[in-house]
Amino acid sequence: MKVRFNVNGEAVEVEARADEMLLDVLRGELDLTSVRYTCGVGVCGACTALVDGEPISTCILLALLAEGKEVTTVEGLGGDHPIQRAFAEAEAFQCGYCTPGMILTAKRLLEEDPEPKEEKIRTYMSGNLCRCGCYAKIEDAVNLAASASKTAAPIKGGA
Ligand code: FES
Ligand code: FES
Repeated sequence: MKVRFNVNGEAVEVEARADEMLLDVLRGELDLTSVRYTCGVGVCGACTALVDGEPISTCILLALLAEGKEVTTVEGLGGDHPIQRAFAEAEAFQCGYCTPGMILTAKRLLEEDPEPKEEKIRTYMSGNLCRCGCYAKIEDAVNLAASASKTAAPIKGGA
């Protein structure tokens, strides 16, 4: 079946089976490899994309349900988004496998709450797991991005 939606600001039309998940379409059809397969059951957050602005585990979202939606992956942030810079500056990763999902979840968090408290950051980011255990630095990165947004362009910048 054909599915039409926007990815990182561009309209796409892809063929998807009725049982195919959005993750497989993003990686397999559209070559967006920042969305990653790990648990496959909506637990780890490695496959996170923003769907109409909300962080979604794409391993459990049927591709057909993306019809007409706006999907953002970390490729759509362009590489120099304030949150990407904050993650780099805070060295908030080791292997980097979880990082795209973390960045997208942090983006939504900072849109909702530009100055989140420690507890809120931990709760909000708890659906994204880091097997390298970089949680303290990830929290630092979110705080850094929040501070940067007070003095520079709004954190909503980018896709
Ligand atoms: S691969 Fe989707 S949540 Fe783990
Ligand atoms: S940096 Fe390796 S999984 Fe998070």
